Amino acid sequence: MRILPARAMMALTKIASIAAAAALVAACQREPAPSTSARNVEASPTAQQPPEAPHTADAPPAGAYGECDPTPDGIGRTYFGREIAAFMTHQGIQWLERDSREAEERTSALLDALDLGPGMCVADIGAGSGRLTVPMARRVAPGIAYGTDIQPEMLAFLEARARKEVLPNLKGILGDTDDVMLPAGTVDVVLLVDAYHEFDRPWEMMRSIVRALKPGGRVALVEFRAEDSSVPIKALHKMSEAQARRELEAAGLSWIGTDARLPWQHLLWFRK
Ligand SMILES: C[S@@+](CC[C@H](N)C(=O)[O-])C[C@H]1O[C@@H](n2cnc3c(N)ncnc32)[C@H](O)[C@@H]1O
Repeated sequence: MRILPARAMMALTKIASIAAAAALVAACQREPAPSTSARNVEASPTAQQPPEAPHTADAPPAGAYGECDPTPDGIGRTYFGREIAAFMTHQGIQWLERDSREAEERTSALLDALDLGPGMCVADIGAGSGRLTVPMARRVAPGIAYGTDIQPEMLAFLEARARKEVLPNLKGILGDTDDVMLPAGTVDVVLLVDAYHEFDRPWEMMRSIVRALKPGGRVALVEFRAEDSSVPIKALHKMSEAQARRELEAAGLSWIGTDARLPWQHLLWFRK
C-alpha cells in the first residue's frame, strides 16, 4: 500500500527490463492541443524565481546524481539531492485500482485537465495497471494511447484490460529504465502519474521522453505534494513543486504552469 502505514507490496527487487520492439503505428495526425488555459493554471509559488537554464547536453548535469545510505523506501541513489524511491511492484495493482482513488485523487478531473481529443497521440509513462491509460485511449480514439512500464506483469495486466474493453488503440510498451522506447517525434501529450519519482535514471528517461514528443508537445507531471504533511503518502513518494521543476527543466523541458485542481497532487505542465 502506498497509504501509510503499510506498503508491504513494495519490493526492492529490480526487474531487468527488456526492450520490446513495439509495433510502431502511424504517427498521429492531430497537432498538439493548445496549452492549458490560463483559467486552470495557478501561478506557481516559484514563478518569481528566475528559471535555471535548461540542461540539454548529452549527459546528466555534473553532480546531479549522487549516493546515500538507502532508506527503507529508496534505492540509495540521489538526483538533485532527492533519494529516488523504489518502484511499486505489480503487487500494488490493487492499490492503484482501489475504489477510493477517485475521491482521493480526482482522476476524472485530471483527465479533463489533459484536454485530450480524438486523433491525438498520448503516452502514459509508468502506466501500471492502466487506470489512467484506459480512459485516455477512449478520449483520443482513433488516435493512439501508449501505456509504458518496466514491469512485464503491469504490461500483461494493461494489455488484457485493453482487449477486454476493446481498445485496439491502446498500445502497451515495455520500456527500459533509461529509455521509454517510444517512436521519436510522435507524441502530443505525456502523462506521468506517481511514477517519475521512481525513475532510477530520471535524466535519461526524461531525455528519451523529450525525444518521443512532437515539437511543442506537453508533459503533465503528477506527484503527491511534499509541501503538504496532510497528504498520507510516504515522504519518498512525494515531490515538492520546486524539486520537480528543477529536475524536468534540467532535462530541457520548459515549465508552463501548475494546475492546483487536484486534492493531493501537484499537476505541473511542461512543454518541449
Ligand atoms: C505507483 S505506480 C503508478 C501507476 C500509474 N501511473 C497510476 O497512477 O495508476 C508507478 C509505476 O511506474 C513504473 N515505473 C517505474 N520506473 C519506471 C520507468 N523508468 N519507466 C517506466 N515505468 C516505470 C512502475 O513499474 C509502476 O508500475
